[in-house]
Amino acid sequence: SEVYRAGLSGTRPTVPVDSVALERAARKATTAEAFAYLAGGAGAEATMAANRAAFDRWRIWPRVLRDVSRRDLSIELLGRRRATPFLLSPIGVAELAHPEADTAVGRAAAALDVPYVLSNQASRSMEEVTAEMGEASRWFQLYWSSHDELNESFVRRAEACGCEAIVVTLDTHLLGWRTRDLDAAFLPFSRGQGIAQYTSDPVFADLVRERVSRLAAGGAAGGAAGPRPRITPALLVSALSIARAGARSPLIDGGIRASLRSPLPRAAIETFLDVFADPGLTWEDLANLREWTSLPILLKGVMHPSDAARALDSGVDGLVVSNHGGRQIDGAVASLDALPAVLERVGGRVPVVLDSGVRGGADAFKALALGATAVGIGRPYAYGLAVAGAAGVRAVVRNHIAELDLTMGLAGRSSIAEIGRDSLAAAP
Ligand code: FNR
Repeated sequence: SEVYRAGLSGTRPTVPVDSVALERAARKATTAEAFAYLAGGAGAEATMAANRAAFDRWRIWPRVLRDVSRRDLSIELLGRRRATPFLLSPIGVAELAHPEADTAVGRAAAALDVPYVLSNQASRSMEEVTAEMGEASRWFQLYWSSHDELNESFVRRAEACGCEAIVVTLDTHLLGWRTRDLDAAFLPFSRGQGIAQYTSDPVFADLVRERVSRLAAGGAAGGAAGPRPRITPALLVSALSIARAGARSPLIDGGIRASLRSPLPRAAIETFLDVFADPGLTWEDLANLREWTSLPILLKGVMHPSDAARALDSGVDGLVVSNHGGRQIDGAVASLDALPAVLERVGGRVPVVLDSGVRGGADAFKALALGATAVGIGRPYAYGLAVAGAAGVRAVVRNHIAELDLTMGLAGRSSIAEIGRDSLAAAP
């Protein structure tokens, strides 16, 4: 009702309420290549279309006269009561949407008490986002690096940052065939964007130092090891930001030009490209993670019921059914279509979050009705960020919550537990 009251008093919404109009507004607010990265998917984007079509194949089946004057949207997730069933899925390279990037998202998430899953490919370090979020809920998403010490370092930092869970994303051990980015020859990481978790990491700084001294040794006749440069995370962060600012500016002065010649930014980017992911990863490797942390572990990108069963055997604490918003495989099974079989295999033993294709509260209702414990918002909040920074993220998330609340009331359901399979009919 708050959202409607604002509308009635003539206050224009911060961001378009309609999800298609929101995407259009984000396109206007960003550069062509930034928008292509945010909005695009793999191949011909058939998976993206399937994600949406899957929601359209279900219809909400309302009940009447059931006193829905008080509605409770809260759920229990990982042993804690949460005000709503939403969370913010990890979105990397948020600087493409807005210069405040992850810190703005963190502020919005904290204001609404919606857990924020911090991305491994963030534009701001987890420590910076933590400083913005106070006591508010955050989780950390890990891409399993080929360098195990780096994984351990990320996980320990996440613990120190008060993250409540580790989400290991398993669908990006190779980067998808992203046609829009390929056509634009655009890979943000190769420009040093979206690697803030790395450049702020002491283990990563050591790897860069090794690379720089190898280069120096290779350059010296006879190959004697040169002096070992002292490379700290702080130095890496500033070298990269100077290089990026310099690359953008037509007015590069001599000092900046000198630092652009510094091998540091290049060494950091190359080191990142070396260690980013490990396509050789197997179930056995997950055991290490258990040794590094006592935090709950969730696996993101589990789509097949057999993998769900294997995940349970390996003792994980939750699953995120997701196809990465259709950014990895073209023509993959829709996330919502994969959900029922996964849920059947899980049998209620661990929470199952769904993302990919959620564009509003009615979509969330359908996922919850099929049995998801919680629902992840992805692109829509990135679009809100592009259009209006933290206020835009807050507006988008609030709209999801408000629409779910209204949909529940209109469907005759006053709690999330009452949203069951009998709340849906298959579309004719
Ligand atoms: C993502 N996603 C993602 N997932 C992840 O585990 N780590 C990451 O760093 C990112 N980065 C990322 C960037 C961008 C621009 C997008 C659009 C998505 C996937 C994300 O967490 C989520 O699964 C999808 O966004 C859900 O699909 P929809 O709802 O955006 O279509």
